[in-house]
Parts: sequence; structure tokens; C-alpha cells
Amino acid sequence: MSISHPSPTASTPAGRIAVVTGGAAGIGQAVVGVLLSQGWTVASVDLGVEGVPPGATALVADVRDQSALDSAIGGFGEAHGRIDVLVNNAGVSFVGTIEDGSEADWHRIYDINVVGQMRATRAALPWLRRSDDAAIVNMSSCTAVNGLPQRALYSATKGAVQSMTMAMAADLVTEGIRVNCVSPGTVDTPFMAELAARDANPAAKRASFEARQPTGRMVSPQEVGEAVLYLARAGAHSSVGSVINLDGGMTALRMPR
Ligand SMILES: NC(=O)c1ccc[n+]([C@@H]2O[C@H](COP(=O)([O-])OP(=O)(O)OC[C@H]3O[C@@H](n4cnc5c(N)ncnc54)[C@H](O)[C@@H]3O)[C@@H](O)[C@H]2O)c1
Repeated sequence: MSISHPSPTASTPAGRIAVVTGGAAGIGQAVVGVLLSQGWTVASVDLGVEGVPPGATALVADVRDQSALDSAIGGFGEAHGRIDVLVNNAGVSFVGTIEDGSEADWHRIYDINVVGQMRATRAALPWLRRSDDAAIVNMSSCTAVNGLPQRALYSATKGAVQSMTMAMAADLVTEGIRVNCVSPGTVDTPFMAELAARDANPAAKRASFEARQPTGRMVSPQEVGEAVLYLARAGAHSSVGSVINLDGGMTALRMPR
């Protein structure tokens, strides 16, 4: 574990204290930016520090490593006396059918996308319990409930995140810890740019990502950050065990062809 950017101060800040996994790129980077814009104290937990927005604490840990997470998240919690918000965002893609991936791929993707959220939650819970108004926001995907080709493994992990969110919410609601998830459609991030770049015609692939959502455009990382903020903000509200879809209507609409 290593730390860069401002070290946390020993004093308790006025705003909320949040940890975002995968905060060095894409959606997580936007989430960190949105939470910082509210005056919150924010840490990213990622494989590296490059890309973490200035003003955030950049912690380095792999979500596959429980002791690294305990050290990174626990150290941040200890410095501030509590953690109010955990955003379980870190995740990786996998493109291919069940016949394409190896058994090692299956375990690796599940280990990061599902068990990684469990590990970070386990590391954060002792500190979330010290908050008067704690929230956990898990990152799912519209692939949890939409059958897209070549996404069997990835979709399985994101379906698991939605199921886990509801069960976690049931476990923690009586302790005042609200657990919810957001479910984006195709978000314009390096994650999607990499998928498009692998195609023979990247421009056409990008156009197909936009076309598959009824709004005709990809979701912006900023929009996802704002939805996370809604679920993570202080103040009693009633979203518990819920899924916020940010998918341009992909899940709910059936458009005429
Ligand atoms: N981009 C999309 O269209 C889209 C849509 C729906 C859901 N999501 C989900 O949103 C989340 C973020 O995706 P993104 O598009 O921003 O991806 P991204 O690749 O742009 O960023 C992911 C970040 O997570 C970090 N990360 C990856 N593995 C890690 C590990 N083992 N430990 C710690 N950090 C790790 C990466 O270093 C990176 O900074 C993922 O959970 C993804 O499944 C993405």
C-alpha cells in the first residue's frame, strides 16, 4: 500500500468521508471528482495513483488482496475516525462466449468484480459503523438484466452484484448502513474505448455502442457520478437495496425497429 497526494489530516473534516475503488480511471475517476466537488474527503483505491483527481488521497491496493485493502481502507478510516461512504466501483470487462474464456479467466473476473466488492466492504465496515449515516454504492451494469452477445461471464458478475446488493442491504439496514447499486448502460470510458479499439472498425463499433441505447448516445461518467452522489449523500432517504438504471432506456424500453 502506498499513498500519494494530500495525506489525510488528523482532524475530522466537516464533509463526508468516502472511499472509491477504481478511482484512477473512467467512472471511478468521475465519481471521485463529483464527491470532491461537494467538499468531501475522498480516497481512491486502485492499482496505481496516476489518474486519481488532485485533492483525493490515492491509495494503492488490488481488490483481490484482503490484507492490502484492510491496510489501505483501514488506514484512511483511522486517519479520519470513520468512513461514511464506500463506492465499490473497480471492475474489469471480459468479451467472449463461455467457450472462449479459460477457467482461470472465469475465476479472475469473478474475483475482481464480485469478491473484490465483498473484500472492500469487509475492510470498510468497521469504519462505516462509526458513521452516523453510512452508505455503500455498488457498481453493477445493464448486462445484469440484458442479454448481450459475448458477455456471459461479465454479465454473470454484474447480476451477482445486484443480488449481493439486496442481501447486503438486508444485513445492514438495521445498522443504518444503506446499500444500493447503480446499473449503467454503455459509458464513454477507457473501458469502452479499449473494446472499440479491438474491433476491425473501431468507429463503427463506437457507433454501435451509441445506437444500442434508445437515447442514441453513450452515458457520461459524470452522470454516473451524480447518481452515486444521490445514493451516497447524507440525510435520511428511502433508497435501500435499490438499483438505479443509467442506461438511456436500454432496460425498460422496447423501441419499434
Ligand atoms: N464503461 C462502461 O460502459 C460500464 C458500464 C456498466 C458498468 N461498468 C462498470 O463500471 C466500473 C468501472 O468501469 P470503467 O468503465 O470506469 O473501467 P475503467 O477500466 O475505465 O476503470 C476501472 C478502474 O478500476 C481499476 N481496477 C481494475 N482492476 C482492479 C483491481 N483488481 N483492484 C483495484 N482496482 C482495479 C482500474 O485500474 C481502473 O482505474 C466497472 O465495475 C465496470 O464493470 C462500466
